[in-house]
Amino acid sequence: METQLIEALRRVRRLVVLTGAGMSTESGLPDFRSPSGLWAKHRPEELASVDALLHRPLLFYEFYRYRLEMLEGVAPNPGHKALVNLERQGRLQCIVTQNVDGLHTAAGSRNVLEIHGSLRKARCHTCGRPYPSEILKRPVTTLAEVPRCACGGPIRPGVVLFGEMLPEAPLRRAVEAVENCEALLVIGSSLQVYPAASLPEIALRRGARLWIINLAPTPFDRVADLVVAKKAGEVLAQIA
Ligand code: APR
Repeated sequence: METQLIEALRRVRRLVVLTGAGMSTESGLPDFRSPSGLWAKHRPEELASVDALLHRPLLFYEFYRYRLEMLEGVAPNPGHKALVNLERQGRLQCIVTQNVDGLHTAAGSRNVLEIHGSLRKARCHTCGRPYPSEILKRPVTTLAEVPRCACGGPIRPGVVLFGEMLPEAPLRRAVEAVENCEALLVIGSSLQVYPAASLPEIALRRGARLWIINLAPTPFDRVADLVVAKKAGEVLAQIA
């Protein structure tokens, strides 16, 4: 399977890649649903939701301070770099990522659609004014320390929280790219969260091929053309 995928990736001309947290574990960041993932220790609705921001702010800000701290010192891995090469060869139309770690952009990828937003950004929850994410690195141990905008609203990370709609533009562009691709390569995602998980469905409906590199099984394995259950960084490094 792996050699077939490498061969297919060498020949593909209009590829779209969809990445998830499994793309960044080899950079040292935890994913969410693996046994060692973030959701093994925390309940997402408790922490990564608007409800948490408004009603459990000390927990919310501590969680995102912890996630921002984890970003310091992590770097793109060979998998991120292999995708930069594919893009430079003109065969990778765009990367649609569920990741908020900014590692594709840090690696040098130019056409990246961050459909779940980015931890590298922050904004006022009330008026939308942008703020540097550094503000969220300060400890918040009392309600008085909650970072607030000039308008009085709480400043929050630029990521999609549970219960929120995704930013309209990146998702629309992602759907358009998938509707026009020859193949969709999913890397490091359990494909359990919508609307990201609707992208493989769109690809298949349009007659595109579906390839998956993921350590654990996904709901799309039985309809995919190729499934490689190996480490993304190792598989992708063979293409470079
Ligand atoms: N190589 C290949 N696959 C890997 C690797 C690796 N090095 N490391 C982990 N994986 C696989 C895991 O087996 C798992 O199936 O990556 C997958 C990651 O799945 P999740 O942890 O569910 O992450 P993701 O699919 O990105 O989650 C989607 O859920 O919580 C929300 O907003 C969050 O964007 C996230 C969304």
